[in-house]
Amino acid sequence: MATERIGIIGGTGWLGGGLAQALLDTGFIPADQLIVSNRSGNHPLANTGARVLADNQALVEASDVVILSVRPEQFKALNIQAAGKRVISLMAGVTSQAISAATGASVIVRAMPNAAIEIRQSFTPWHCAQTLGSVEVAFIQGLLECVGTASRVPTEDGIDYLSALSGTGPAFPALLMTALTRQAVIAGIPEDVARQAAKGVVVSASQLLANHDPQGMIDALVAYKGVTAAGLQSLIEAGFEEQIGRAVQAGADIARKGM
Ligand SMILES: NC(=O)c1ccc[n+]([C@@H]2O[C@H](COP(=O)([O-])OP(=O)(O)OC[C@H]3O[C@@H](n4cnc5c(N)ncnc54)[C@H](OP(=O)(O)O)[C@@H]3O)[C@@H](O)[C@H]2O)c1
Repeated sequence: MATERIGIIGGTGWLGGGLAQALLDTGFIPADQLIVSNRSGNHPLANTGARVLADNQALVEASDVVILSVRPEQFKALNIQAAGKRVISLMAGVTSQAISAATGASVIVRAMPNAAIEIRQSFTPWHCAQTLGSVEVAFIQGLLECVGTASRVPTEDGIDYLSALSGTGPAFPALLMTALTRQAVIAGIPEDVARQAAKGVVVSASQLLANHDPQGMIDALVAYKGVTAAGLQSLIEAGFEEQIGRAVQAGADIARKGM
């Protein structure tokens, strides 16, 4: 159990709230070491024994580690001084330099979870430009692993790129699922069956990939020279991989430009 007092600004939102609950449920910290804030200072998290505040500066002063989980456009209004505190930002498109300039903090971690925090299956890459000791690295890894898996990446640009990849969470699978459903309906399949079939592929069958190498899976299916091979070949020849590359770069460009 960590001994640090953790404050989450925006700790009642989608990501912040999910993280706060996970820190308590996994026993990473006891409730009396957790403070969350939002603009009203009210939230059911208060029933767990955690403190819920509306005063962000009071949260900073009572915390050893400050997690920023407001939306990027809400960041400027926070107006906090966090010199001497360790800051972990979950915000997309806000640079470490901007966070340091606005808060006075010198140790900034940028972590990029995704919406699967809700089911504790987020992959969360993180970056810190400062040199960290092994205890500090273990603390950050442990904190982020309360909501899934995590890995340190060597550059901040890597966080901007990964914001558009793993940070998008269920977005690409959702697009694939709706495309498969709509196209099946156009092909004459009843809508309820089309939905089940698409879900069966995107949500159920894809779980095989947890323990199978994806390229090996593609090679094996192409080798059958059958129905699946024809579909895969059609996508590959249409430039599927290049299109995916362009899609992720489009998102990464937004993250790099800042929000
Ligand atoms: N959602 C995702 O899939 C995802 C993925 C990767 C990264 N992120 C990043 O995660 C961050 C949070 O996103 P989210 O989806 O969790 O947003 P959200 O659900 O809107 O949460 C934002 C939280 O900030 C609080 N808040 C707003 N202004 C505040 C202020 N001045 N002082 C204190 N609290 C304030 C809000 O509470 P009140 O409105 O009650 O004040 C709310 O609890 C964003 O920066 C985003 O870039 C999100």
